[in-house]
Amino acid sequence: MKRYDGETCVLAYSGGLDTSVAVAWLRETLGFEVVTCTGDLGSVRDIDGVQRKAIASGARKAIVQDARDVFMEFFVWPALQADALYQERYPLATALGRPLLAKLLVDAARAENARFVAHGCTGKGNDQVRFDLAVGALAPDLTVIAPMRGGMNMTRDEEIEYARRHGIPVEATKKSPYSVDENLWGRSVEAGVLEDPWGAPPRDVFQWTVDPDEAPAKPRDVVIELAEGLPTKLDGEALGAVALVERLNALGGRHGVGRIDQIEDRLVGIKSREIYEAPAAVILHAAHRALEEMVLTRDALRFKRRVAQEYADLVYNGLWFTAHHQDLAAYVRSTQRFVSGEIRVRLDRGGLTVVGRRSPHSLYSTALATYGKGDLFDHRASEGFITVFGLPLRTQARTQALWGEGSAAVLDVPRRVLASGTTTRAKTKRRA
Ligand code: ARG
Repeated sequence: MKRYDGETCVLAYSGGLDTSVAVAWLRETLGFEVVTCTGDLGSVRDIDGVQRKAIASGARKAIVQDARDVFMEFFVWPALQADALYQERYPLATALGRPLLAKLLVDAARAENARFVAHGCTGKGNDQVRFDLAVGALAPDLTVIAPMRGGMNMTRDEEIEYARRHGIPVEATKKSPYSVDENLWGRSVEAGVLEDPWGAPPRDVFQWTVDPDEAPAKPRDVVIELAEGLPTKLDGEALGAVALVERLNALGGRHGVGRIDQIEDRLVGIKSREIYEAPAAVILHAAHRALEEMVLTRDALRFKRRVAQEYADLVYNGLWFTAHHQDLAAYVRSTQRFVSGEIRVRLDRGGLTVVGRRSPHSLYSTALATYGKGDLFDHRASEGFITVFGLPLRTQARTQALWGEGSAAVLDVPRRVLASGTTTRAKTKRRA
């Protein structure tokens, strides 16, 4: 294998077994001086421990950075404003974290004068794509090394053996049988018995949320205040982003809210079974959308749903540092001008319902909506509206006889279409 003696490589380091073994392997097999780089996005509990372990694994230097505020302000909040949920459900915790970790990696490489960076992602997942693309966008001159994608081919047992031989501390506690990634915005769990898509996730998969049937019987209402699309208060108390999300994760978790079990399409073409715990993300997305329903017009809502999908795909696919993202983000930011108000969310044994909303910019008007007293809607004006709105339909009825003369077949819409002579003729014509 090619050696890089005298070169420095900065490794994105989690403190887990894979990346600890990678430290020793990059040094021993490739000859690198290794500097580790750990970004705390809300999951690093023991900073000293992580540093000690990196050094014990052979790193020359171990950098740990608290990036929680940056993560919230520049990654999580914009994704919330965009309503970004991959395949309509996954709040993208891991996907949002990667570009930031890549940015920290690039910064560390610059500070260390390194020409190489490395990560511990495998060749099957999305995370490798996110790291590689983000580094490519921010620092195309750097070379990315991914030992788990090739070279360091070790099974878990081999890694443990390798770690023992190299004096890397291996936790005595039984290792999780799953692949887990965690940050403030959620916890992603995959592999192990979860690979059977028919099997319900065992209890030990969940760490942030209680089983819904062990949640309190009494529902809990929480009032979320938002200003221009960003959560600012919980139950009237002003909180910073990190504290607010931590508080909601705990509260939602106690009520069993925020579990997601889905088959997901990875960028590399594989369908995979994913379990997520994301109480704050699930609650805040519901609240944010509910507020948008009240203050955005029908047209804006419809278009924003499409942008949301595009935005979620872009984040999922590792395209964070692109012009396309900048353009979509500009649109999203503009839509948030009036997204201020309060949403009341009810947490109830794993379930969540928006039960109240109010906003100074509300487009909801009781005087227009009411069926009671004080109705301001001009009922007679509807006649003219329907005449014009229905004009194309009546024209078609006169000239194309879509529905025949009220025969029974009118009830079976698809068969009526398929049997219709007009349709058949049209088909034949197209084929000719
Ligand atoms: N499937 C999710 C995603 O691609 C979660 C990935 C979790 N990563 C991990 N190393 N366990 O965003």
